[in-house]
Amino acid sequence: MNFTDLKTELTYVLQQAMIACLGNDYAETDPLIQFATRPEFGDFQANVAMSLAKTLQTNPFDLASRIVEYVGRQPLISAISVVKPGFINITVSDEAVLTQLQALKSPRYGVPALQQKETVVVDYGGPNAAKAMHVGHLRSAIIGDAIYRILDFLGYHVIRQNHIGDWGTQFGMLIEYMLEANIATTNLVIDDLNQLYQKAKAKFDVDADFALRARHRVALLQNHEAKTKAIWDDIIAISVDHFQAIYQTLHVRLTSQDICGESFYQDQLAKRVSEFEQAGLAVESDGAKVIFLEGYQDADGKAVPFLIQKSDGAYLYATTDLAAAKYRICDLAASRVIYVTDARQAQHFAMLFDCVKKMPWAEQANLQHVPFGSILGADKKPFKTRAGDVIKLTDLLSEAKNRAGVTAKEKNSQLHDADVNHIADVIGIGALKFADLVNDKVKDYVFDWDKMLAFEGKTAPYLINAYVRIQAIFRKLLPDQWHQDAALVISDPFERKLMMKLLGFAPTVVLVSQDLAIHKLCHYLYELAATFHGFYEHCPILTATTPEILHTRLYLCQETSGILKQGLALLGIDVLEHM
Ligand code: ARG
Repeated sequence: MNFTDLKTELTYVLQQAMIACLGNDYAETDPLIQFATRPEFGDFQANVAMSLAKTLQTNPFDLASRIVEYVGRQPLISAISVVKPGFINITVSDEAVLTQLQALKSPRYGVPALQQKETVVVDYGGPNAAKAMHVGHLRSAIIGDAIYRILDFLGYHVIRQNHIGDWGTQFGMLIEYMLEANIATTNLVIDDLNQLYQKAKAKFDVDADFALRARHRVALLQNHEAKTKAIWDDIIAISVDHFQAIYQTLHVRLTSQDICGESFYQDQLAKRVSEFEQAGLAVESDGAKVIFLEGYQDADGKAVPFLIQKSDGAYLYATTDLAAAKYRICDLAASRVIYVTDARQAQHFAMLFDCVKKMPWAEQANLQHVPFGSILGADKKPFKTRAGDVIKLTDLLSEAKNRAGVTAKEKNSQLHDADVNHIADVIGIGALKFADLVNDKVKDYVFDWDKMLAFEGKTAPYLINAYVRIQAIFRKLLPDQWHQDAALVISDPFERKLMMKLLGFAPTVVLVSQDLAIHKLCHYLYELAATFHGFYEHCPILTATTPEILHTRLYLCQETSGILKQGLALLGIDVLEHM
């Protein structure tokens, strides 16, 4: 991926200076350019001297000073200096900033497009059939969808996979129970299935005869016996309707076409197990088939194996994942597979990847688990209703919209109902998603309606409001007032600050596409909006005194609103034209 942003250009300039100063051996040494941590340090700082001085056994300040001597005069740089212990502070020239700024074009705003198509699978969503979706599946959908959108924007060929739990003994149990109790699937909804499943499970646990019949039903299901299969089909259809309704409300891109659940892999499991046996990786242990891996031990230091077939012949979640990995790498031709699930599955995926990586077909593949923490209630315990029940996602999403609708009406009592509904949808769902994405996803976070819906702070309403404010400026613009062929100029430090922020979009998106730390994009967008507000307070726009200043300021408004809209779209969040 090659594109020239300021950081890339500076990296090149410093690398050349290092070669001139230290010789060709240092051609590959990264000068470690970063955005300056404080404005008084300039725009960027290069930190290479600190680490390199250790290797060269010299003093970092002297080393930095010598490198700087070789930088010489550069059109790119207006000031460069060394501060203790050995930081190189760099201010880029206004011309360089303006040249970069001029090149920012909607809709990519400097984000490079991948030259070679590379296939990535994103496995997200992953709810279980016959059960209502829970908040963990909400997080997987929100985070996975943002990952999907970012990689898609960068030009990857991204395949969504919704690995739903739609196979296993629980379905034999449920179907047997329904048949015996004479319950038809007509008119059933997900909550009914949920309840029936709980009843079936209770009976299974106490009634040995029923348990036997349920097991037999599993076998019938596996053999696709017509009556059993027909009920299973209905159960899955009801469940998928429920999942899709939630994804639609969330504006998550997962469609029913993306569903490729556990049942899809059924006829591949035996083959996968024997492949691992033939490769000498899977072995028998107490009648079961397991793969021993290095580095996984239980509390007593006993090796924990990866269990792929139980002694009664049954396959497991792990077996299905082996099959899914092969399908994705070999059939879908993915070079990277990303799994978005809660952090409790971290060990499962670590072991899965270790196993798969031992096979020749997976050697080149990049497998990544994106773990996330739990959503907590105000009491810092797992998020529940006041009565202590699990939260129903449908209720949660309606509440988000209702609350946002109430605020919208408070702010503007003239609004028509249709407008209120639209605003409630964009703000309510946007707030929920942003609150989920803004946290470092591995950590647990406390669910707080007031905080996420506030118009101040790191929230979707704050960002959407900044966008709306800019649209209002453009509505006030007189015809012929804006001469777009005027030159861009810098007449105020607040303009320059905003320019530098705008130039930070592309590097942020590229970084996030690699490390998948979505919260960095959230923080970037917040800083952009906050920097815009500073600019807006200090720099008159429509009353600017020269055509160049007016052009520059309007251009900054245009680019800011464009990047806010595009950046939020990458997170799966819409904007409003007015509120
Ligand atoms: N159904 C699983 C759950 O509820 C998530 C599936 C994740 N994907 C996978 N390939 N294992 O936790």
